[in-house]
Amino acid sequence: MNQAIGVIDSGVGGLTVASELMRQLPKEQLIYLGDTLRCPYGPRSEMEIRKFTWEMVNFLLEKQIKILVVACNTATAYTLSELHEELDIPVIGVIQPGARAAINVTENNQVGIIGTEATIKSEAYSRALNTIKEDIKSISHACPSLVPLVEKGILKGDVAYNVVGKSLESINDKKLGLDTLILGCTHYPLLKQVIQDVLGHDIKIISSSEETARETSTVLEMNDLLNKEEGIPTHLIYTTGELDNFKHLMNDVFKHHLGDIKNIKIEKAVL
Ligand code: DGL
Repeated sequence: MNQAIGVIDSGVGGLTVASELMRQLPKEQLIYLGDTLRCPYGPRSEMEIRKFTWEMVNFLLEKQIKILVVACNTATAYTLSELHEELDIPVIGVIQPGARAAINVTENNQVGIIGTEATIKSEAYSRALNTIKEDIKSISHACPSLVPLVEKGILKGDVAYNVVGKSLESINDKKLGLDTLILGCTHYPLLKQVIQDVLGHDIKIISSSEETARETSTVLEMNDLLNKEEGIPTHLIYTTGELDNFKHLMNDVFKHHLGDIKNIKIEKAVL
């Protein structure tokens, strides 16, 4: 089956999931769409998040994707169940895999979650955690300043440390007893080093990308959708925003954080 895996996010954050998909599934072609023009989704209303997500999904459905990966926690929180109901291709979100990954590593069942305002408001993570394991205690905190930082390409240095430090103030407290922190936004893994330095190295930091890629691989296999043709695929990356900015940021992100990935074509999308 040589159709592509479709991946959506509000901007560059979903590339953290895309790169893991490329690593775990090297024979699969990816078509990625980042809605940079309307990023961030985090402060938006549920209605807007659902409308924008459906516009992204419809763009990718026209490209005949065989599976959809919603590489955005905010979109996952508000649209995953309706996407499951209405699409006739498999749909993978990032929240369930993130919750599973955290449950795997926590030793004291005290888990922190950081995400966008909309994701935290939805309580999707605490529900997912407690559905899997009832005795998990979670504390959630919205960090609205982090996505704009990442979209500007500020991933290290004084400004990054200041903004992350302020954003994490309320959960950076040993008295809370957290041993694990879920990065509940796909942009945040690009700030992982800064977050780890700010919180100290005792806390385990979880991003959902590896577990999401594993789930995608399992679902493709179970549905007999894995690509059996030979050759290295060329991935297509679309942005609704300014092309040069996105290219610049993407190169930076791939080079410094995600490894050197070749065979990528970037184009502008109009939704
Ligand atoms: N990367 C996104 C997420 O995982 C969305 C960030 C945003 O647009 O606010 O939630």
